[in-house]
Amino acid sequence: MRNTESKSMAKAKSAVAPEQIPTKTTKRKSAPTSTVGRGKAVVREQPLSAEHWDDGLTSITFGDSLEQYSQWESPTCIVSDGAYGVLGFEGDTSDHTGMPEWYEPHIAQWSERATPQTVLWFWNSEIGWASVHPVLEKYGWRYVNANIWDKGIGHIAGNVNTAKIRRFPVVSEVCVQYVFEARIDGKLLKHWLMDEWKRTGLPVKRANTACGVADAAVRKYLDQGHLWYWMPPEKFQMLVDYANEHGAPEGRPYFSANGKKPMTGDDWAKTRSAFNCPHGVTNVWQRPALRGEERIKTNGKTGKAVHLNQKPLDLMTRIIEASTEKGGVVWEPFGGLFTGSLAAKNLGFRSFAAEIDPTYFHYGLDRIIEADRQHRLL
Ligand SMILES: C[S@@+](CC[C@H](N)C(=O)[O-])C[C@H]1O[C@@H](n2cnc3c(N)ncnc32)[C@H](O)[C@@H]1O
Repeated sequence: MRNTESKSMAKAKSAVAPEQIPTKTTKRKSAPTSTVGRGKAVVREQPLSAEHWDDGLTSITFGDSLEQYSQWESPTCIVSDGAYGVLGFEGDTSDHTGMPEWYEPHIAQWSERATPQTVLWFWNSEIGWASVHPVLEKYGWRYVNANIWDKGIGHIAGNVNTAKIRRFPVVSEVCVQYVFEARIDGKLLKHWLMDEWKRTGLPVKRANTACGVADAAVRKYLDQGHLWYWMPPEKFQMLVDYANEHGAPEGRPYFSANGKKPMTGDDWAKTRSAFNCPHGVTNVWQRPALRGEERIKTNGKTGKAVHLNQKPLDLMTRIIEASTEKGGVVWEPFGGLFTGSLAAKNLGFRSFAAEIDPTYFHYGLDRIIEADRQHRLL
C-alpha cells in the first residue's frame, strides 16, 4: 500500500458524488458532424471540493498547465489533446490558423523538460496537426508516425449532406507520434558519432573492426543520411572502447558527453525513447467514437455527456503502454476528464495532469478518485 494513502483517502471523503451536483445544461441544436464536439453540455456552478489530487501515482491539478509544468517530474510520455481549432471547449481556437500560437508556449515548456527518452502523442484533426507541426519541429520534436483513428461510418450516419459540404465526410482524428530529438554538444547523434570518430584520426572503415561487424558500422551507424541507424548499446560500447584505446592520445576521451569520461552503452541506451508495438496493431485504429457506459455523464448512466471530447480509454492505454516503460512518467497537459491519466494509473505509471475548466475538473477528479478506490479494492 502506498504511504500517501491516508492523504488520498481523506481527499476521497471530501469529494462530492456527481449525482448530488446541481447542474445547468445548455442546449445544442443538433449532433455535430465534426470529428470533435462543439459547445458544452453541462456547466457546474458550485465551488470545487478540491483543486488538487495526488495519491502518489496520479497527480491532477485544477488550473492552467502552463503554470504547472515546472513542478512536474520530467516526462517520458506526453499525451497532448488540446485545441482543435473547432471551438470544442472554452479557449479552443475557432480555426486552425490560431493553433500554432495557442500551442507554442506549451511546446516550448515540453521541450525544456523533455529528454531524448520522451515520446509525444499529439491528438488532433489533420489540419490542426499540419498547422502545429512546424512549431513542434522548431522546438526539437521529430516526427515519427501519424496514426489515424477511424471512427467508422457510424460516426456520421444520417448527419451529413455531402452535396452541401462538397467533400468526403470526416470520421477520423490523428494521433501523431513524435520523439524529442537527442543531441550531444548541440549535434544530432549521427553527426556527433561521425565527428567523434574522425577526431580519433582512425580511418572510417576501421569502425567496422571496432564494432566487430562486416560493414554495418560504416553503412548504418556512421551514415550521415537517411540510412543512419541507431546502433545497439553493445556496439556503441565496442566503438567507444576501440576509439579510446587506438585513437590519437591527445584527443581522448572520445565519445564523451561531459569531456571527462567516455559514454557507456548504458548512457547510449538513454538516447532514445521506448517503443513496443503490440502484435497486429497498425497505424489505422478502427474504433467507433465513444458512446455507452464509458462516457462520463452528469447523472450516472442517464445524464448528459460531460465532455464532448472524452477520448476512449483503450486508445489512450495503447499509446501510453507502447511508449512507456517501468519508472516512466506521463504528462497530460489538457486533462479534460483525465482519460490519459486514468490509463497511466491502470498501467501503474506516475502521471501529472491539469485541467483549466472547473466543471471538467470536478468530473475528472471524481473519475480518478473512483479508479483509485477500485484499485485499492483489488
Ligand atoms: C480535447 S479536451 C481533452 C479531453 C481529454 N483527452 C479526455 O479524454 O477527457 C481539451 C481540454 O483541455 C482543457 N484545457 C485547455 N487549455 C488548457 C490549459 N492551458 N491548461 C489545462 N487545461 C486546458 C480544456 O478545458 C479541455 O477540457
